Amino acid sequence: MNIVVIGSGYVGTTAAAIFATSGHKVTAVDIDEKKVASLNEGKAPFFEEGLDNLITDAVKNDDLVATASYEAVASADVVFSCVGTPDNPDGSSNLTYVFDVAKKAAEEMKPGAIFVQKSTVPVGTGREVLKLFPETISYVSNPEFLRESTAIYDTLFFDRVVAGGDDTDACSTILELHGTVETHAKDIAVISDISVDIDALAKHSGEYVTTRLESAELIKVTSNAFLALKISFANSIAQLADTTHADIDEVMGVVGSDARIGKAFFKAGRGYGGGCFPKDVSGLISSAKSFGVNMPIMTAASDVNASMPSYIIERIKKVHKLEGVPVAVLGLAFKAGTSDARKSPAVKLANLLVKEGAHVSAYDPQASEEAAPDLDASATLCESIASAVKAARIVVVATDWPEFKDLSWVRAINTKPLVVDAVNCLVPSDVQALGAEYLGVGRGV
Ligand code: UGA
Repeated sequence: MNIVVIGSGYVGTTAAAIFATSGHKVTAVDIDEKKVASLNEGKAPFFEEGLDNLITDAVKNDDLVATASYEAVASADVVFSCVGTPDNPDGSSNLTYVFDVAKKAAEEMKPGAIFVQKSTVPVGTGREVLKLFPETISYVSNPEFLRESTAIYDTLFFDRVVAGGDDTDACSTILELHGTVETHAKDIAVISDISVDIDALAKHSGEYVTTRLESAELIKVTSNAFLALKISFANSIAQLADTTHADIDEVMGVVGSDARIGKAFFKAGRGYGGGCFPKDVSGLISSAKSFGVNMPIMTAASDVNASMPSYIIERIKKVHKLEGVPVAVLGLAFKAGTSDARKSPAVKLANLLVKEGAHVSAYDPQASEEAAPDLDASATLCESIASAVKAARIVVVATDWPEFKDLSWVRAINTKPLVVDAVNCLVPSDVQALGAEYLGVGRGV
């Protein structure tokens, strides 16, 4: 198929690379010339394991080309819109890019082509967007469920592909297009060189689902909202565990072993961040309100999440002063495996520490550059774990990068620091065995 993917963020770049490796000709369109140049050089405009290998291969085979022009839209069979839907100051979704792209695409697309919305949009948006198109163009909502840092893995081991719209034939075409990705799954695994169990991949099968347009839109935000809810629930129980000497990992591990509940997204810590959960939760609250529906359950989830960094600061202050104290923050990305620091609770923690008068040295293996604009100017960005922790009296592990779990950095410090594990990624007894004090979240230590 001849495919155009508009928007070269995480979702668009992954989709473009994956489709181009599944037997299709893909044009990636983005207004940002830097992203265009990066893609044409075989590199994703951000760090994502395995993605550069796919892009390099596809560009070399002439299956993927990036451009700032909409010219290719005119001959495309399918046009994917993968543009950002950031949050407005009031929490609602900013749909400027969604409508701009649809308007431009509507002017160019050929009759019989399909316009596919992959951007996360509030329920009801598609019905408005499709008014921009002539009747000869079909509109399908095809939400994306991949996570940053495991984008290719999630695409290969998908649980479901959803296509929602009035035109069921167009929905089927989009599901079939994703079927070609499943057919090429092994090639994608090999070319990307991510760690995949090929036997498991051969046996894997996910669901292909056709829904109403509005259902597809609501499925996406509901999935993210529920996962965010699980995290905030675990963080609420973690606070009770802290005061009762229960261990949150033991509690949620066993609670999650009930098949009706599930273990995923029960990891307590400094809370969720990134370009999705915070804005999708506020977007859901706001869009529900516009339809006269209150969502106190999501407001509570959002409030608990916002409070976690200060909760951790208060816990530290019970055992150690912060004013004038050198504190290292390890990890600034919103989670491990990504250079993305958008709405990162790790950055929020670092800034709160500065506010308390601590002298903060921060290190992240990938996200320093993206975190820098949000990081308090008086925090020092370091080039290595060693330089960040060198003089620290307190070390806050704020993102669970694998290199932080290897405790050689604790061994290297003569005067052992207080180790604050804001993501519960360390084994408390291992830290204590090295002579350092340990403070986790909900671990009763
Ligand atoms: C999330 C969803 O998981 C994807 O399914 C979805 O496609 C994506 O948003 C999106 O809408 O584009 P992502 O934001 O990449 O993916 O990252 P997650 O792995 O879901 O983590 C989100 C945040 O929750 C991170 O800050 C992470 O540290 C935190 N988290 C996650 C916890 O605090 N506890 C957990 O148990 C799990």
